[in-house]
Amino acid sequence: MCQWSVTRVKSIMALHACFNTFFCLFFIYRFTSADTYLAAVYEHAVKLPSVQDRPVSQEEALSAMNLNLNVLEDAVKQAAKKGARIIVTPEDGIYGWSFNRDTIFPYLENIPDPNINWTPCTEPDRFGRAPVQVRLSCIAKNNSIYVAANVGDIKPCNAIDPKCPKDGRYQYNTDVVFASDGKLVARYHKYNLFLGEKQFDQPAEPEFVTFNTTFGTFGIFTCFDVLFYNPAVYLVDNLQVDTVLFPTAWMNLLPHLTAIEFHSAWAMGMGVNFLAANTHNTTMNMTGSGIYAPDKARAYHYDAETDNGHLLIAKLDIHPKLSPHYTAVNWSLYAAGLDTVSEDNAVFNGTIFQDVYTFITLNEAQENISVCQKDLCCHLSYSMKEKQEDELYALGAFDGLHTVEGQYYLQVCTLVKCKNPDLKTCGEPVENASTEFEKFSLSGSFGTKYVFPEVLLSGVHLAPGEFEVLNDGRLRSENGTSKPVLSVTLFGRCYEKDQDVIWIV
Ligand SMILES: *[C@@H]1O[C@H](CO)[C@@H](O)[C@H](O)[C@H]1NC(C)=O
Ligand SMILES: *[C@@H]1O[C@H](CO)[C@@H](O)[C@H](O)[C@H]1NC(C)=O
Ligand SMILES: *[C@@H]1O[C@H](CO)[C@@H](O)[C@H](O)[C@H]1NC(C)=O
Ligand SMILES: *[C@@H]1O[C@H](CO)[C@@H](O)[C@H](O)[C@H]1NC(C)=O
Ligand SMILES: *[C@@H]1O[C@H](CO)[C@@H](O)[C@H](O)[C@H]1NC(C)=O
Ligand SMILES: *[C@@H]1O[C@H](CO)[C@@H](O)[C@H](O)[C@H]1NC(C)=O
Ligand SMILES: *[C@@H]1O[C@H](CO)[C@@H](O)[C@H](O)[C@H]1NC(C)=O
Ligand SMILES: *[C@@H]1O[C@H](CO)[C@@H](O)[C@H](O)[C@H]1NC(C)=O
Ligand SMILES: *[C@@H]1O[C@H](CO)[C@@H](O)[C@H](O)[C@H]1NC(C)=O
Repeated sequence: MCQWSVTRVKSIMALHACFNTFFCLFFIYRFTSADTYLAAVYEHAVKLPSVQDRPVSQEEALSAMNLNLNVLEDAVKQAAKKGARIIVTPEDGIYGWSFNRDTIFPYLENIPDPNINWTPCTEPDRFGRAPVQVRLSCIAKNNSIYVAANVGDIKPCNAIDPKCPKDGRYQYNTDVVFASDGKLVARYHKYNLFLGEKQFDQPAEPEFVTFNTTFGTFGIFTCFDVLFYNPAVYLVDNLQVDTVLFPTAWMNLLPHLTAIEFHSAWAMGMGVNFLAANTHNTTMNMTGSGIYAPDKARAYHYDAETDNGHLLIAKLDIHPKLSPHYTAVNWSLYAAGLDTVSEDNAVFNGTIFQDVYTFITLNEAQENISVCQKDLCCHLSYSMKEKQEDELYALGAFDGLHTVEGQYYLQVCTLVKCKNPDLKTCGEPVENASTEFEKFSLSGSFGTKYVFPEVLLSGVHLAPGEFEVLNDGRLRSENGTSKPVLSVTLFGRCYEKDQDVIWIV
């Protein structure tokens, strides 16, 4: 069994405390306009260095990085001109991903602890050679905007430290944030490295990095971190983060782990704003960035066709948990009141990302159906406009440890469109559908309070505002969606059942 749900109850700001007209007007003004801000993310088509098979000089590395910094600077200028207060740029956005320990070396800089109060733009030489930090700091300062970027940090070590790598240095995949005055305000070393990130070391302990601004408290982590408890969940649950900054180089994986789908679901499940900036490279299936609020995606971008970057800007609540949209959820409440009817529908096994799900098919145009695996029962109530003979949908349940490309314990309820009417294809990646649902409601007997609600539509689109999560744990669309459904999923994580991952260095 996973962790039991704890309902988080937050009081909504009391508006009745108006003693006179002046105070009242002031209060309402603050509530409606001063309590939002504009955020930006930039999906960047990284220009990969032309030499990748051998170490280059620091000068060559810098000129390759400057080609990317030129593009990022243009994006920052545009965002600032439109009033954005902060912009996030992608993981690997300044030099790409094709490196080993030695070939990344000339791209790295010593990034100091932000506590030392440093503005690289005005004190460029204080910590030795740091041209990338100086340039990012000046870009932030010159445009009066917070800038988050992903760079490489280097920390020398020696034999006194038994964990010191043979080459005498730690190399970290690092996020930095420069404030609108150019000051370095955050440095985060990625904790959950993805398989194959052999150019970088894992920090000894997870780091919990936050900073305060006049538009809320910010936390930061990177890419694969979003699947795990530390530091991602801890930041939101214990350090009261309002907005997460999320540089990523995310390879899309249908049906559950496409960037726009999973990141928007994390924002909704955790009740936090989430600024996801993805690297853009269609060959690597990397696309999908967004500005996500707990109630819905405020802006998103997915482009598997072109090689272009893309800037997104949208308005967010400074404190999303105080907003009237926010409700705390007990994810198992509705399912607890349902009988697990055993249907005529035969169950069968199907595979999603190498996890074996228990499935049943949707045989009618409208029905209430259930399927269980181990401790998890999933319930779906739905109505299709028309049952199409050439399209098959299935409801699946999975309760188990995922072990491919990282180990993490999942409880998942999912409605998927099968690739074709053959049962064997249920769970395989599929991008298009033509069946329209008039309504659906999905719930499950989750043993965790960490459940991420996903809805993905034909053509790989989100459905902002077209579904809701009720506080009894139902993911519901009352009036159907604007496009046919690819998948509807409650993606639950049972962090305390994770087993330690063995990292291949
Ligand atoms: C959530 O609902 C379940 C099922 O009714 C109940 O057992 C559990 O106590 C609830 N959790 C909280 C925190 O209210
Ligand atoms: C910032 O502005 C100053 C002048 O105000 C200019 O000299 C400098 O090149 C600019 N730096 C960047 C990175 O735009
Ligand atoms: C941010 O402000 C909160 C209180 O408003 C404080 O508890 C927290 O320590 C501050 N965080 C940082 C990183 O300064
Ligand atoms: C995308 O990434 C692949 C693999 O690293 C690389 O070969 C290709 O050149 C990249 N595409 C573009 C447009 O940069
Ligand atoms: C990209 O996605 C396609 C379709 O799902 C898949 O066949 C291909 O292997 C993926 N490419 C990479 C680099 O993962
Ligand atoms: C489904 O897979 C499980 C193990 O993963 C196995 O025990 C069960 O017999 C399979 N069921 C069917 C119908 O193949
Ligand atoms: C499904 O369940 C709902 C709610 O319990 C009920 O209103 C509806 O009539 C049921 N639909 C079918 C087709 O059984
Ligand atoms: C999905 O449909 C769109 C247009 O409706 C089309 O451009 C695209 O190629 C289709 N994709 C697949 C994988 O069939
Ligand atoms: C669904 O449509 C009805 C009638 O138009 C409307 O009253 C209701 O608010 C809609 N529900 C949602 C969740 O949008």
